[in-house]
Amino acid sequence: MTDAPHVTIDPFAGGVRRVGEPHPARAVLRAAGPIVRADAPAGGPVWIITDDVLAREVFVHPHIVKDPAWAPAGWDPRTAGLEPTAATQPSLTTCDGPAHETLRRAHAPLFTARRMSEYADRATVLARELLAGLGDTAETVDLMADFTTRFPLTVVCDVLGVPLDRIDQAIAACRGMYSADPEEVGAAMAAFGELAAAALGDGQDGLAVELRDRVPAELTEAQLHYLLFTLIYAGQLTTDPSLGFLLARVLAAGDTAAEPTTTEEFVRETLRRHAPAPFSLWRFTSAEVELAGARLPARSPVLVDIQGINTGPGRSIGPDLTFGAGPHYCTGARLAQLELKAVVEVLRADFPKARLAVPLADLQQSDLGGIQGSRLTALPVKLRG
Ligand code: HEM
Repeated sequence: MTDAPHVTIDPFAGGVRRVGEPHPARAVLRAAGPIVRADAPAGGPVWIITDDVLAREVFVHPHIVKDPAWAPAGWDPRTAGLEPTAATQPSLTTCDGPAHETLRRAHAPLFTARRMSEYADRATVLARELLAGLGDTAETVDLMADFTTRFPLTVVCDVLGVPLDRIDQAIAACRGMYSADPEEVGAAMAAFGELAAAALGDGQDGLAVELRDRVPAELTEAQLHYLLFTLIYAGQLTTDPSLGFLLARVLAAGDTAAEPTTTEEFVRETLRRHAPAPFSLWRFTSAEVELAGARLPARSPVLVDIQGINTGPGRSIGPDLTFGAGPHYCTGARLAQLELKAVVEVLRADFPKARLAVPLADLQQSDLGGIQGSRLTALPVKLRG
């Protein structure tokens, strides 16, 4: 048994690069081996998986868990961006094993293919309304300034039953989560609590109410609110940057010619190339574990390099890892894809002359740092051509 090779490049650094420029760390990580050690932002080593087969093993490994109670003892939860432990805050993203299965069973019927396809027309109406609101001008509009955040939040709030007059509050709450000031993050979390309470209020009949009736009775109101926070925040965090890359590709003249034919395939291909969750969420070993010949002590942090695996030159055609794999596979994968598809279809139907106001190659993306993804810095568009 050997130690995994150590890379000195920082895969968690922030920065700005052009839209077509690959992330500088991915090729270095991949070249170093299927499992690689790097320096974690919160200190000490992190083991990064760069191989598809090994990643799928990690996603189902019984001793590689999500519960932050297994994080390295010295880690500052804020620097590491950790959630509370499963004991404090049971949620899909903190629980493992049977406790996680119980929560998955509660969520599962809400996000099935059938339920989501029934929602498709509504997503189209929302896309049409929001784009129409922007399209009454011959001026250039920056779709990253508001639209790419507002649309996914409108969809996820609508589906959950959060009244739509609260979207500005939801946008402010999501933006507050990026603050370095703990008070601002606390205020954002309080706002998410209010959004959750509003979705559960008298007369509301969205999925939030259905979820309340399906979760274990011992869950407190605050814990239920946290489950709803997870859905709202996860629904914005990922779909927002995806919309930027997707619309840029749709609007770039000539770029679509060589693309797969259906809108679904176009969406999926864009997600593969620009995975909005470039790394999996944090996982930790709950016992000593051997992976590809490397020995990881208990409490070792492990990440899957989703972006690197998705874009690896040797990758064979097949399912990508954009939405993860195994028991923690993305709950909102169907919702995300249908809402992205709705925007492309509405844009093509209602704004046939829409075009980028700058060459595609000049667009820039900003890596937010840590395990977060990248986002276009701006998407200037002339909707009326
Ligand atoms: C393009 C959009 C999206 C992408 C790329 C994405 C990606 C992912 C990935 C990679 C994971 C697994 C993380 C891991 O195992 O470490 C995940 C989990 C999750 N996603 Fe998404 N997601 C997207 C949209 C959404 C939406 C719209 C929702 C809300 C409805 C959502 C809710 C969740 C939840 C609740 C989990 C945790 C599931 C669990 O741990 O059991 N996601 N997502």
